[in-house]
Formats: sequence, structure tokens, C-alpha cells
Amino acid sequence: MDEGDRRFWDGYWADEPPTLMARTMTAVLDRIKLEYLRPILPPAGRTLEVGSGSARLSCLLAVAGYRTVCLDISMKGLMAARANYSATKASGWFVAGDGFGLPFRDGTFEAVLSTGLLEHFEDPSQVVLEMVRVLRPRGVFYSDIVPRKFSLFRSLEWVGRVKRALIGRAEPEEKFHERSFTAREIRDLLERCGLVGARVFPAGVVPPYVPLLHRSRRLREAQFCLVERTRTFWKRLDGTRLAEWLGFYYFACGTKP
Ligand SMILES: C[S@@+](CC[C@H](N)C(=O)[O-])C[C@H]1O[C@@H](n2cnc3c(N)ncnc32)[C@H](O)[C@@H]1O
Repeated sequence: MDEGDRRFWDGYWADEPPTLMARTMTAVLDRIKLEYLRPILPPAGRTLEVGSGSARLSCLLAVAGYRTVCLDISMKGLMAARANYSATKASGWFVAGDGFGLPFRDGTFEAVLSTGLLEHFEDPSQVVLEMVRVLRPRGVFYSDIVPRKFSLFRSLEWVGRVKRALIGRAEPEEKFHERSFTAREIRDLLERCGLVGARVFPAGVVPPYVPLLHRSRRLREAQFCLVERTRTFWKRLDGTRLAEWLGFYYFACGTKP
């Protein structure tokens, strides 16, 4: 991690409003993730989210009673996390640090997670090894990975890019690196890093983010309500071939032996 990366992520979070209370597709996906996670997580204990950014998932876990630690290289990201925690009156710990060298002793946490982090590194092995190191034996590892690939949710992103290019406000995207990943590669990564019982499946088929529609609060709300009401339908697509093609992320979990 270099200073440029930290600056990039600070800039990223400077533009992002607190996200947890937003009624967006991401909020629908967060609730689905939590439904998958609750049965595999221990009933209580300490959790660590690496690269937490606004820490939406950790915040939901804190509300459910877990003692959550959020770690990020970006102070602005941690500020977004604090904003989410205070909006929900949850408590947690916020640590500035680097996933390549976690400032915790071996075996500290009952669960360690990351959401939308590992795809940003060409080789995330060192980060996963660190996450496994600070995990207790029989502790749960969870990561959702958003690889560079087509997904229904992001299928209209190009509209925003074209618009920004036309008005001369193209964004410097070179630091927002996302590598491609297959389910097989993710499973191999988890196993190489010492996890057992690895389970990886494609997930997150939801209707596209439509930049123009998102300008209108009413249309945004209508889209959210529709997807929220039909959540079981979208969730049923997880793990299917369709999700391999249209899904937004991979759900990946494993256990430390
Ligand atoms: C795309 S954001 C995902 C944030 C959040 N988990 C979410 O889904 O909204 C990636 C996060 O990883 C953090 N990050 C990037 N490199 C990191 C590193 N080496 N160590 C810790 N955090 C890092 C960034 O600051 C950013 O907050």
C-alpha cells in the first residue's frame, strides 16, 4: 500500500454520503448477505472487518450484538463508518491500519470479514493470510468479492462514464483497480491461505443502477421498494448459472481449522 492508494481512497470516501440508511440496491444486498451470514457466524463475539470503508455490514453486526472492529487505511472511510454507527446508535472500534499487516495478535477474532476489498489487489494472498492469522481456530472467514466482470447491477455504468466524458469531467479511475476472479480461483485462494470448508458462490443479481433514474428521489424509492418486495426472487438466483453471468459479487466463506 502506498501513499497514493491512501489518498485515492480518502478522495473516494470524501464523495460518499453515509451509506447504511440509504434505500439502495446495496442495502437490499446487505440484508441478503446478513441472512447468509447469521447461521454460519458464532452467536456472539468479536468481529473484524478489513477495508471496512463505511462498514455497513459490521454496523449491522454491531446492532445484532457483536463486538465489531473496523479497520481501514483511509481516515475518511473510517469517518463514514462512524457516521453509520452513530446513525444506528451502535458502538464499535475504529482502527486506521493496513490489511497487509494487521495490528492484532494471532487468534483475536471469532469472525473476520471483508466486503469489496480483495478484488482491488492483484495478489490478495497476504491480506487473506493476515485475516486468517488473527482469526481464532474454528473462527469464520467471510469475504464478498466484486470482480471485474459484467453484472446486471453495473450494466449501465457506461452511461455515467460517457456523460462525464462529454462534460469534460472524466474521473481518474486508474487507482480503482478491480481484477477478475472466478469462483474456482477464489476457492483456491482461501484454501492456499489455510481455510477449510471453503464455500464460494456467485450472487447479487439485482436490476441495474440507472444514473438518470437516481436523480429523482421518487423513482429511486420506487425501484428500491420494488426490489425489496421481490427480494426472495432475486435471492433465489444466487448460486445459479445466471448469477455467474449477471451477479455482482461472489460470496466466499471458510473456517480456520
Ligand atoms: C471499495 S471499498 C469497500 C468498502 C466497504 N467494505 C463497502 O463495501 O462499502 C474498499 C475499501 O478498502 C480500503 N482499503 C484499500 N486498501 C486497503 C488496505 N491495504 N488495507 C486496509 N484497507 C484498505 C479502502 O480504503 C476502502 O475503504
